[in-house]
Amino acid sequence: MVNATNPDALRTPGALPGERTKYLLDETAMPRAWYNIQADLPTPLPAVLHPGTMQPVGPADLAPLFPMEIIRQEVSQERYIEIPAEVQAVYRLWRPTPLYRAHRLEKALDTPARIFYKYEGVSPVGSHKPNTAVPQAFYSAAEGVKRLATETGAGQWGSALAMATQMFGLECQVYMVKVSYVQKPYRRSLIQTFGARVVASPSPETHAGRAILEQDAESPGSLGIAISEAVEDAATRDDTKYSLGSVLNHVLMHQTVIGQEAQQQMEMADAYPDVVIGCVGGGSNFAGLAFPFVADKLTGKSPNLRIVAVEPAACPTLTRGVYAYDFGDTARMAPIVKMHTLGHGFIPQTIHAGGLRYHGVAPLISHLYQAQTIEAVAYPQNPVFEAALRFTRSEGIVPAPESAHAIRAAIDEALRCKETGEAKTILFNLSGHGFFDLAAYDRYLAGELEDYEYPVEAVQAALADLPVVAG
Ligand SMILES: Cc1ncc(COP(=O)(O)O)c(C=O)c1O
Repeated sequence: MVNATNPDALRTPGALPGERTKYLLDETAMPRAWYNIQADLPTPLPAVLHPGTMQPVGPADLAPLFPMEIIRQEVSQERYIEIPAEVQAVYRLWRPTPLYRAHRLEKALDTPARIFYKYEGVSPVGSHKPNTAVPQAFYSAAEGVKRLATETGAGQWGSALAMATQMFGLECQVYMVKVSYVQKPYRRSLIQTFGARVVASPSPETHAGRAILEQDAESPGSLGIAISEAVEDAATRDDTKYSLGSVLNHVLMHQTVIGQEAQQQMEMADAYPDVVIGCVGGGSNFAGLAFPFVADKLTGKSPNLRIVAVEPAACPTLTRGVYAYDFGDTARMAPIVKMHTLGHGFIPQTIHAGGLRYHGVAPLISHLYQAQTIEAVAYPQNPVFEAALRFTRSEGIVPAPESAHAIRAAIDEALRCKETGEAKTILFNLSGHGFFDLAAYDRYLAGELEDYEYPVEAVQAALADLPVVAG
């Protein structure tokens, strides 16, 4: 027992190895470079095609949309790319982020598994999204860009870019998927509080938006539509570039600070994962945690490591989509990439994990899935929210509905361990908090959340409209 009359004894760090809950890194341990998985792929990614000519794109084709340094990073084969000092300085506002051991969840599940989670919800906007918003804003400002246009689904990405553009003196225009604009009024307020302009998409401000509204004035919108609007905005203005919050190679690379930190923190815990899990919308938080571990798998350090991507059953891009060339947006203005897709015309049901409602998934993730380096699983909303509540009530953090998909998969792994008696080590990414998602929690608690069937006919119709690519 500690002597309560001796204050020094109260301050002496106790030895709690088995009980340690947070693994914290000093700021000096923050990664100085992003990890670029393109350097380690056994086969290179298929070429990106121009939406007009269907020929491979070059830097000049992308220059109206992106700053040059971003284009360079998109195609770079260098294993590591240095993080500029200005970007590191902003990262230090919340990075390194904590890694937690989920003692209470383990106990609640009565599992022999050890569960760890990396928590990205400590960023100023509550998710992993600023990890790429900050460098994108930095490179844009450095190249003289005045304004960035973007889309946002759940509102997480819009708030991240709104914050980052403020830090580097840029204007920001956000096209927010209409259903989220309505469901999440406070995310919209947050974007505006950071100084950005936000409109519900489809909007009357672009050709792409007006075309959709003419067909369906009540369209709930989708990420594909909002991307079309933001791309059109950037392509038609000299002072504006486009910024994407997921899917592209450079975005996934910027997120690898997550996995690089987690590797150091797992070492502190004297542990290495048997399974790494992340939710997948466009794929950036999953890649951020997983890619440094995928490198271990590809280089033979941990050949048996399992890496699991988790998606919503209402938008099952990896598990039910096809691997094909498709447009990144609904209006066919964005480059054509080879990816798992449900068809660029597919508009997913209005589930509450708005950030997972994208018809495609990152080419890098699709490529690794085709090579069977990673696995995928899909869940309907209700079991996901059930897992979210179990997590909230044991760990004390309210997860974003997107992140709760990863929690569901981690819990199911841990429950399988309970059956088999295996003491596996599970690591998942808690990509954000759910403080702006309480309306969704309300609906779940009221028993009003619907589990949508896989929309076979809508997907078949959308897949019939894939671009025809020679060869
Ligand atoms: C908290 C959170 N997690 C995950 C996602 C999905 O995006 P990605 O797959 O790019 O990580 C989003 C998207 O908005 C999000 O807000």
